[in-house]
Amino acid sequence: MTATPDLDRADLLGPEVTITVCPDGPLLVRGPAELLDGDGVALPRHRNTVALCRCGRSGIAPYCDGTHKKRRGGGSSAA
Ligand code: FES
Repeated sequence: MTATPDLDRADLLGPEVTITVCPDGPLLVRGPAELLDGDGVALPRHRNTVALCRCGRSGIAPYCDGTHKKRRGGGSSAA
């Protein structure tokens, strides 16, 4: 019988990936997740953390470009 080496979670799953839902904003994907388009083709990724658009208004979809921060009609934005 061979001994099984002790493996921790990182050995089994690789570096951790987290996805954070930003209120009224994008999904922040941190870690080595592979991003695929609807055809299964890998999307370019140049950073450890990427923001994925949830509002559908980004000019660089699927990535967030900050457009979600703009409000129509000049509402009561403090910015
Ligand atoms: S979530 Fe930021 S542009 Fe859509």
